[in-house]
Amino acid sequence: MKKVRKAIIPAAGLGTRFLPATKAMPKEMLPIVDRPTIEYIVEEAIESGIQDIIIVTGKGKRAIEDHFDRNFELEENLASKDKIELLRKINQSSNVDIHYIRQKEPKGLGHAVWCARNFVGDEPFAVLLGDDIIRAEIPCTLQLIEQFNETGSSVIGVQTVEDYETHRYGIIDPISSNNRRYEVSKFVEKPKQGTAPSNLAIMGRYILTPEIFSFIETQEKGAGGEIQLTDAIQKLNAVQKVFAYDFIGKRYDVGEKIGFVKTTIDMALENDEIKEELYSYLKKKILELDLYN
Ligand code: UTP
Repeated sequence: MKKVRKAIIPAAGLGTRFLPATKAMPKEMLPIVDRPTIEYIVEEAIESGIQDIIIVTGKGKRAIEDHFDRNFELEENLASKDKIELLRKINQSSNVDIHYIRQKEPKGLGHAVWCARNFVGDEPFAVLLGDDIIRAEIPCTLQLIEQFNETGSSVIGVQTVEDYETHRYGIIDPISSNNRRYEVSKFVEKPKQGTAPSNLAIMGRYILTPEIFSFIETQEKGAGGEIQLTDAIQKLNAVQKVFAYDFIGKRYDVGEKIGFVKTTIDMALENDEIKEELYSYLKKKILELDLYN
C-alpha cells in the first residue's frame, strides 16, 4: 500500500465572509495574533509526516507564496540586529517543499482539489483546509493517516456539531462505529436545516485515494452553485469504502468572524508576551459590560 506523502491545501476561495479585509489580502494570511492562519495548517501537515505540499491559490493570493519564500533583505536586517528568535520564526516552514498551482476561477472546493491532480498522481493524499485550525496532541492529519494505514481506504475527519449548525457543514450518515471510526452510508453537503442525517460534521481534513479525481471530473455543481468535494466523496463511497473518523483535538473555526475572534483570544491567552495584560484587560472589560447590563 502506498504511503500518504503529499498534501493539498486549497486556498483559492474568495473569503467573502471577511470582506472588505479580504479584498486585497488572502483570507489564509489573516493573522491569529502574529502568525497567519495558513502557517498553522502547513505546520500540521509537516508534523503529520507530509513531505510535499501543494497550495492551490488564485487571484490576489501572491502574499501566500511570498510568505513561504525566503526574504533575504528581512533576514539580513534581523541578523544585523541580533533578532535570532524572530529569524527562527520567519523560517519555520522552510524545511518542506511547497508547490503552488492556480485555480483560475473559484468553482468550489472539489474543483480546487482537482486542480492539483497532476501533483498527486497515483497516490493517496491529504487535504487540509485553512478554515479549521486543529490543535491536538497527535496532529489531526496524522490521526487520519493512521486510520488510512489500518484500512487502506479514504478517511474523512469529523466532529460533532450542534443541531443549529449542521446546515453549514458536510454531514455524514453513519452506519456503524468502531473506536471513533464510522462506516458511512451518505455524505451530504450543507443539508437544509432539520434534515441532517446526524450531527457528525466534516471538519476540513481528508485522506483520499486518487480515484476521487475521476469523480470530481464529472461532478456537477452542488450546494452554493459550487463543485463540492463532499458530492464526489459520496460517489467514491459507492465503489470504494470511505470512512469517517471522529478525531481527538480542539477545532477552531477561523473561517467565520466569531470563530476567528475566539481563536485569537485563546491563542493570545497562551502567548507569553501578551497573556497577562490581555487577561487583565478582559477581566476589566467584562466588569464594565456587567455594569451596563
Ligand atoms: P470556503 O467556502 O469556506 O472558503 O472554502 P471561501 O470561499 O474562501 O470563503 P467564503 O465562504 O467566501 O467566506 C473552504 C476552503 O476551500 C478553498 C478556500 O480557500 C477555503 O480554504 N476554496 C474554496 C478554494 O480553494 N477554491 C474554491 O473555489 C472554493
